[in-house]
Amino acid sequence: MATLALVSRPAGVLPRIASGCSPAVLSAASVTSVQQRKLHHAVLPKGKGGRSSSSGIAATVFGATGFLGRYVVNRLGRIGSQVVIPHRCDQYDVMYLRPMGDLGQIIFMDWDARNKDSIKHALEHSNVVINLVGREWETSNYRFEDVYVNIPQQIAKAAREAGITKLIHMSHLNADIRSPSKYLRNKAVGESAVRDEFPDAIIMKPSEIFGREDKFINYFAYMRWFGNAIPLISRGKKTVKQPVHVVDVAKAIINAIRDPDANGKTYALVGPNRYLLHDLVEYIYGVAHKRFVAYPLPRPLYHLGAQLFAMSPFEPWTTPDKIDRFHTTDLKYPGLPGLEDLGITPSSLEQKAIEILRRHRAFRDLEADQDDTKPAKTVSY
Ligand SMILES: NC(=O)c1ccc[n+]([C@@H]2O[C@H](COP(=O)([O-])OP(=O)(O)OC[C@H]3O[C@@H](n4cnc5c(N)ncnc54)[C@H](OP(=O)(O)O)[C@@H]3O)[C@@H](O)[C@H]2O)c1
Repeated sequence: MATLALVSRPAGVLPRIASGCSPAVLSAASVTSVQQRKLHHAVLPKGKGGRSSSSGIAATVFGATGFLGRYVVNRLGRIGSQVVIPHRCDQYDVMYLRPMGDLGQIIFMDWDARNKDSIKHALEHSNVVINLVGREWETSNYRFEDVYVNIPQQIAKAAREAGITKLIHMSHLNADIRSPSKYLRNKAVGESAVRDEFPDAIIMKPSEIFGREDKFINYFAYMRWFGNAIPLISRGKKTVKQPVHVVDVAKAIINAIRDPDANGKTYALVGPNRYLLHDLVEYIYGVAHKRFVAYPLPRPLYHLGAQLFAMSPFEPWTTPDKIDRFHTTDLKYPGLPGLEDLGITPSSLEQKAIEILRRHRAFRDLEADQDDTKPAKTVSY
């Protein structure tokens, strides 16, 4: 990182970036001869490693306003990184990210994923690019092809052309061109598009991610709103899931940035245990202190019901594609490096479930011990 150095005053973003600079550094910047990259002084590592030091990382995080994004920005901020957050929403809606870094280190800017100049502009002061852009449903403006293939490809292209050496692209464990889920098919195409454009990209393939704000554990827990029985294809007895904790995924991203050997690798990020979907959902209801009865719903009927939700002009609660994705057995990749190779011991669902599920409990059960619930049975296939 230390080799990445300063430059002459770049247009546009720097005045906002510079708000956290010391005058000495700024005057040094103005006399430094023009170098290849328009990098900021924050890329020089210094300090003890806390949020007021400099990690040497200046990262642009696309998709930082999402579920995983806040954990990644938090991890980057607390080690003293500069984080550029391109966003398309109102600036006040992303202010919760501002305190995650030191003064002036979290920088917001508008972007338009279809505008190549806006992508270039977003990463011109960074030495790391992280792509977390994703959407669980298609809109008339953005199809899965746009979100998972075209946008990642443009980001990878812009990163390569800007001379960036670290690009982290978020894919999915079950990305597969033959998947019944269009999301997962496009994730597979996106992976190869990114690899072609940026051969040294680090591709992360997490399984379904769980955490407080997730749309996996919470999704199943909220199903109780629609009746006492939970519909699962084949009662969830034919699907195996190996969910991974959001903090582990965020840590994996930071450790991959810091590991010079990570470039060009694909990581499979999974939790320590595999469960039948049925047992997993039963455990969720156990911790939430709710009655659990699963009933088998054939896929076409399930799709029909989900289609009604998918027609919502607002965020659809579910879609046929989501049902296919959640009923896809998590693939095993014994040949790929994983969390352990990045120095992370994965957390199990049992360790974290109460954090997510306490809010689903009735008032009288709020303080009940999580140990009352029998852990979900694990499988090895
Ligand atoms: N969550 C999981 O269980 C899971 C599992 C495996 C892989 N992944 C992948 O990991 C990545 C992050 O997941 P997540 O759960 O954090 O996703 P998320 O909560 O849905 O956030 C997605 C982010 O992408 C941005 N985005 C979506 N469409 C965009 C567009 N057309 N233009 C600009 N920005 C756009 C969103 O911005 P706005 O806020 O403006 O909409 C948001 O910041 C995604 O690629 C996802 O596919 C997630």
